[in-house]
Amino acid sequence: MTSANVLPTPDKWPHLLLPAATGSGSATGSGAAGAAPTDIDAAVAAGAFKGLTEAIKDMTAGEIVAALAASGLRGRGGAGFPTSEKWRACALSAADRRYVVVHAYQADPAVFTDRVLLERNPYAVLEGAAIAAVAVGASDIIVALHAEASEAIATLETAIREAHEAGYLGDDVLGSGRDIHVELKPLQGAYMLGEETVLLKGIEGKRGQPEQQPPYPTTRGLYGKPTLVHNAQTFAVVPGIITGGPGSYGDVAAKGGQGTVLVQISGSVANPGLAEVPLGTTIGEIVALAGGVPGPNIVKALLVGGPSGGILPPDALKTPYEFESLEAAGAHMGSGSIVVVDERSCLVDLASVLTRFCADQACGKTIPCRIGLRRMAEIGARFCEGQPRGDEIERLTDLSADIVASRLCDHERRSTLPLLSLVRYFRDELDAHIVRSTCPAGICQPMATSRAGTVS
Ligand SMILES: Cc1cc2nc3c(=O)[nH]c(=O)nc-3n(C[C@H](O)[C@H](O)[C@H](O)COP(=O)(O)O)c2cc1C
Ligand code: SF4
Repeated sequence: MTSANVLPTPDKWPHLLLPAATGSGSATGSGAAGAAPTDIDAAVAAGAFKGLTEAIKDMTAGEIVAALAASGLRGRGGAGFPTSEKWRACALSAADRRYVVVHAYQADPAVFTDRVLLERNPYAVLEGAAIAAVAVGASDIIVALHAEASEAIATLETAIREAHEAGYLGDDVLGSGRDIHVELKPLQGAYMLGEETVLLKGIEGKRGQPEQQPPYPTTRGLYGKPTLVHNAQTFAVVPGIITGGPGSYGDVAAKGGQGTVLVQISGSVANPGLAEVPLGTTIGEIVALAGGVPGPNIVKALLVGGPSGGILPPDALKTPYEFESLEAAGAHMGSGSIVVVDERSCLVDLASVLTRFCADQACGKTIPCRIGLRRMAEIGARFCEGQPRGDEIERLTDLSADIVASRLCDHERRSTLPLLSLVRYFRDELDAHIVRSTCPAGICQPMATSRAGTVS
């Protein structure tokens, strides 16, 4: 298995994604504690494929979508879009063929949450996707994941074979007359392959850049056909919504959101790892799962949302980890990553490196994003060198507004966050670089100062 450290969580927290064996609390996923994740008999005994059986035998497509709508489930791929709206749109798009795509590519190079989910609870993801196929009228499910996720690929190959043999996948599923075939699609690419329209082109074997939406993939997706794309975590909770009813899913929700999400905590923490947390848990509670910051260091900032995330001040430890609160704070859920930064790091250097990464990853289709992010990265580099030109802050905010206005894909909007976070929250540190040509952390060269303040 991926050597990710799955962190234990409080007993009262639910386990909708990772089976209880990997932590504590009540298990509602399809995995069985103690058994191999691909042991289909153990999984079925623990409740796997009950939701699919119910959906395929006793429910109409409309009833399945209605159950999803009542649950309030929002996509876990980052944007938090209501799932039922996508399902309804896909089901209603006239076509002779439709597809369901499980997005497990995980573009953020340092995050393994979806990989671990597939390794530890493969049947929940497959079953959720199969229920989606029934609801939207698709016969083909494609699981797209990173070619380097070898353990997840091996687990899924076994799980798909076992589910076929047991009659939960393949031709005439459970004697219903419906065919549901699953294909694994290992992909090798860069960060932008995570954007759903690029992912679809990658599955087709083409090079790709994001497409203007609408039309959304639910009306024109894979091979031009209606396609339902969700993150693997989104699919994994669908069986529980069908068997337990929307209320049971809502019951486990913390304030401000629904259900749980996998979060990876790294940086300056005692015990880096990933955990399943109820949406609405505070960032501070999540960081505490990883043992907090080892003394004598102190939290200086929190990078929330991956390379294009927001750099938030220590006050954000009180912020609930859910879609709206993170947006309001200037961050986003993104890949489900929280990086704790302590006082030894320079935030200007950090934001500058992240912006350069984002500029390098931008595909170049939209001029404001292609040129604008490059200019922002150059401004960041000038901050680090202590050589600003004129009013760089104003230039930074103007550029951000132009980039965000281009609105072709979400990359442009998110990529402005690291440097804008400094303007919003860390003006002192920024001014030290711009106005006084000093780096309080002693990181930036050639103007580095020691942390004691001595010019080197
Ligand atoms: C640059 C970029 C990278 C992305 N990477 C991922 C990713 O690795 N995994 C993912 O599920 N969604 C990713 N997304 C979001 C997808 O485009 C899409 O919104 C999501 O897969 C929909 O799934 P959901 O309905 O479950 O949220 C990315 C978006 C952008 C703009
Ligand atoms: S906004 Fe940026 S990343 Fe997105 S399509 Fe345009 S150039 Fe490519």
